[in-house]
Amino acid sequence: MRVAVVTGASSGIGAELARALRGRGWHVVALSRRPAPDADEHEECDVADRASVDAAAARVLSRHPAIELLVNNAGRAARAGYLDGDPESIEDVVRTNYLGSVWVVRAFLPGLGRGSHVVNVVSVAGTVADGPYSASKHAQLAFSRSVSTELARRGVSVLTVNPGYVETPGFPQRDRLPRPVRSLVVDPPFVVTRILDGLDHGRREIFVPRWYRPAAWLQALLPATLTRLRSR
Ligand SMILES: NC(=O)c1ccc[n+]([C@@H]2O[C@H](COP(=O)([O-])OP(=O)(O)OC[C@H]3O[C@@H](n4cnc5c(N)ncnc54)[C@H](OP(=O)(O)O)[C@@H]3O)[C@@H](O)[C@H]2O)c1
Repeated sequence: MRVAVVTGASSGIGAELARALRGRGWHVVALSRRPAPDADEHEECDVADRASVDAAAARVLSRHPAIELLVNNAGRAARAGYLDGDPESIEDVVRTNYLGSVWVVRAFLPGLGRGSHVVNVVSVAGTVADGPYSASKHAQLAFSRSVSTELARRGVSVLTVNPGYVETPGFPQRDRLPRPVRSLVVDPPFVVTRILDGLDHGRREIFVPRWYRPAAWLQALLPATLTRLRSR
């Protein structure tokens, strides 16, 4: 039995991934605060709380000592800026989106043997600076790229996934975005197909859809121009 651990499988992309993995014969263990009916097993866990992650991982590893796939997907939105957002939300988005991934990888490390895979669901927002959510995703992206070199020495591969706008319960996009941008929004099955394809082909980092990649180049190559344009 191949065991996959998916954080945030109670909703959106994680729930869709749990269904797809089960369809491929994986045994899926979900970690989230709410129940995850699309998984085979559920452990209640708050990824923003290191003690909660350590306890959940210990319970899972006692039942399943070998984890072939670990997906860091749990995340939350923070739809406000640095000046108008509430401080608790700014702190919690970092604890959840960035530190949550760090604590989960560390806690499950004993179960990650040679040949196993880690998937980090980051965001295009991790490549273009835009508020506290984006900063948490920049940190998660740096973690994902960095830990992939540390894990490679153990024979564990890392796939970094940067989705753009995806319509999910936690990130309702279509009603919020201006009409011309709405056509850019994709649905969770599209993201999950690309994640599975990335795993099948041994990819290291993907953008979903692919055409978001130039946004990352623009931010890296012309940061001052981008700031000027976005300040107008
Ligand atoms: N939708 C988008 O446009 C988009 C774009 C780029 C990247 N992403 C990323 O994709 C990932 C999945 O998001 P989604 O769009 O599928 O949103 P979603 O429908 O809100 O699902 C988020 C999942 O994360 C879990 N979660 C949140 N905080 C948690 C915590 N403290 N501890 C444990 N689990 C927690 C939630 O479970 P519980 O509430 O049950 O704990 C839920 O299962 C996130 O990392 C998000 O940043 C989304």
